[in-house]
Amino acid sequence: MKIAVLGKGKTGKKVIEQLGHEHDHSVFHSSNPPTLENLKGHDVIISFLPGEPFLSYIDILIDSKIPVVTGSTGFDWPKEIDQKLKENKTPWIRAHNFSLGMNLVHEMIKVMAKADKLFKAPKFKIHEVHHIMKVDAPSGTAISWQDWSEHECQITSARTGDVVGDHKLTIETETEDIIVQHQAKDRGIFAAGALWSAKKIIDNEVPAGLNNFSDLAIKELL
Ligand SMILES: NC(=O)c1ccc[n+]([C@@H]2O[C@H](COP(=O)([O-])OP(=O)(O)OC[C@H]3O[C@@H](n4cnc5c(N)ncnc54)[C@H](OP(=O)(O)O)[C@@H]3O)[C@@H](O)[C@H]2O)c1
Repeated sequence: MKIAVLGKGKTGKKVIEQLGHEHDHSVFHSSNPPTLENLKGHDVIISFLPGEPFLSYIDILIDSKIPVVTGSTGFDWPKEIDQKLKENKTPWIRAHNFSLGMNLVHEMIKVMAKADKLFKAPKFKIHEVHHIMKVDAPSGTAISWQDWSEHECQITSARTGDVVGDHKLTIETETEDIIVQHQAKDRGIFAAGALWSAKKIIDNEVPAGLNNFSDLAIKELL
């Protein structure tokens, strides 16, 4: 298996570390950008590029017909992409957050979404904290949490130090607060989730089209 790693920054370098010497891989970055030509011969592409450069390469990635695992955030997905990937018979997996533990949180938030059955007008609040270099706010994960909660959430963001990623959902009622929190301690967790996804693709367990990591990982919990 030969992997193309796009981005060797804070997260991409964790992918490269975890690939080690056992797996053949190439690394693409600002001064060695991916092209249709130099991507040839790779079995899977893993992207931890920032959103804008990822979007600028998206047509090349589609045309390569190589499966993609992408954690890039901070951009809007082109609408027709799922259809194009299905036509090309190429599986892609995307996630705002490749932490495997986040899938446990997903299940918890699905339960929290039912708060209205027990409480009158519960307030849903999300607070996320990341390192100062993170460009997008609120984080993609905070947006996913809001979707999972099926409620309009008041989302607040803070940027400080080198925080890998903290997310907290609070349901406030008149009489009690219910809180779920996820703290990423090391960027290696995102690399591990991306490599878990690449393996699913190599093992032919992923259908063609644009797949969500959380939909695949949740199957492990059923
Ligand atoms: N989904 C998840 O689980 C997850 C987790 C963490 C981060 N992320 C997302 O992943 C992305 C990267 O985050 P990061 O903190 O690792 O970023 P980073 O440390 O800033 O690294 C960015 C990398 O992208 C490369 N790059 C930037 N512009 C490029 C271009 N035009 N062409 C080719 N390469 C380019 C840089 O190349 P040089 O090395 O040459 O400068 C660098 O290697 C962000 O969108 C972030 O939100 C997602």
